Amino acid sequence: MSSTEENLQSAFAGESQANRRYLFFADKAEKEGYPQVARLFRAAAEAETIHARNHFAAMDGVGSTRDNLMAGAVGEHYEFTRMYPPFIEQAESENNKRAQRSFEYANEVEQIHHRHFEAAMKAFDAGQQLKDEPYFVCQVCGNTVAGEAPERCPICGAPASKFKRVE
Ligand SMILES: [Fe+2]
Ligand SMILES: [Fe+2]
Repeated sequence: MSSTEENLQSAFAGESQANRRYLFFADKAEKEGYPQVARLFRAAAEAETIHARNHFAAMDGVGSTRDNLMAGAVGEHYEFTRMYPPFIEQAESENNKRAQRSFEYANEVEQIHHRHFEAAMKAFDAGQQLKDEPYFVCQVCGNTVAGEAPERCPICGAPASKFKRVE
């Protein structure tokens, strides 16, 4: 019998995934010419976010900003040291090239996220604000760059136009 804490964890995971899944389905419906179906998926996605947020709140998932930066750094570190390397190896051994590339992109970018979070924690502890600047996210590999988009993504080679500005 699982505890309520575990149930919250798995419900949070499921609702979070449903949110992303429905947004991807909405894009597809839009492309196939079903705008109202796209809207339905977006509305359901929005609701799943509320469920995820409620579950996360019931788990006390959101801490102070300092705690949240630490949680981010720990999570990213786990992913690129423990999770993705064996995933990449396994995908390679099964000759699943798409999975391998997807894992490799994430593995590279999690290291960058980890660096961003560590730098933010350092600034935080020194009582400094981070520089006021946008971030640019590569829409191919997820590379996350502060300031301005690089001419070419150093991870996947995508051009600057593939970067989305995040305020
Ligand atoms: Fe990440
Ligand atoms: Fe990229």
